[in-house]
Amino acid sequence: MRTKIVAGNWKMNNNEKESIQLIDALYESIKNETLKNTRVIVAPTFVNLSTSLKAAKNSEIEVVAQNMHQAKNGAYTGEISADMLKAIGIKTVILGHSERRTYFNETDASLAEKVATILENDLETIFCFGELLEDRKSENHFAVVESQISNALFQLEAGAWKSIILAYEPVWAIGTGETASAEQAQEMHEFIRSIVAKKYNKEVADAVSILYGGSVKPANAEEIFSKPDVDGGLIGGAALNVADFTGIIKAI
Ligand code: PGA
Repeated sequence: MRTKIVAGNWKMNNNEKESIQLIDALYESIKNETLKNTRVIVAPTFVNLSTSLKAAKNSEIEVVAQNMHQAKNGAYTGEISADMLKAIGIKTVILGHSERRTYFNETDASLAEKVATILENDLETIFCFGELLEDRKSENHFAVVESQISNALFQLEAGAWKSIILAYEPVWAIGTGETASAEQAQEMHEFIRSIVAKKYNKEVADAVSILYGGSVKPANAEEIFSKPDVDGGLIGGAALNVADFTGIIKAI
């Protein structure tokens, strides 16, 4: 059975105190839930990772990073390496978020390098991708998603896929309040699984968790998560509110 995942991407929100408060409140809110086969993840900003790891210690909440540089070390002012993340106890890193691609010029090529660094360091990645509104309007969304995945991930050996979680996030649905319908999400997730099966095999495709992201809220989570190829969600805005995030966790 595939692992279910609800991951909160906090983006550039929450200072140190707020990060601790949110993790404490989340812990209180979900401690009596049975999280069967479900991972609950939060991604605070770099500067609050250590504190957040401490706050989440002895709970089922996992703390992951929002990004990482591909180089081992060196003259990359403002960047963070895999080794730095590992040294404080981070095991998972989000890569390729649309905001990184749009505002920080991340490309399929640089993301392929980051994925290679993830694997060299025995880390895991939540790898994000998704089409723009114009791609969907021109019915290019399948082609765009296929190229994003193949350019950054299809150089991997089959065995490496155990370290990959996919997150389909249509850019037009991120932070806009507009969600893909459950049918649109399922259609794309099924397509993604089919291209992974074609490139590798059914076993790899059936094992990879594919999350949906883009304006997931307690009100729409259950319907989206009910689809057979949707294994959870990557949550932005609603992850900053304990009641909303708990509602989404309960929906899974
Ligand atoms: P959103 O963000 O839930 O606020 O739309 C999702 C994301 O960017 O991962």
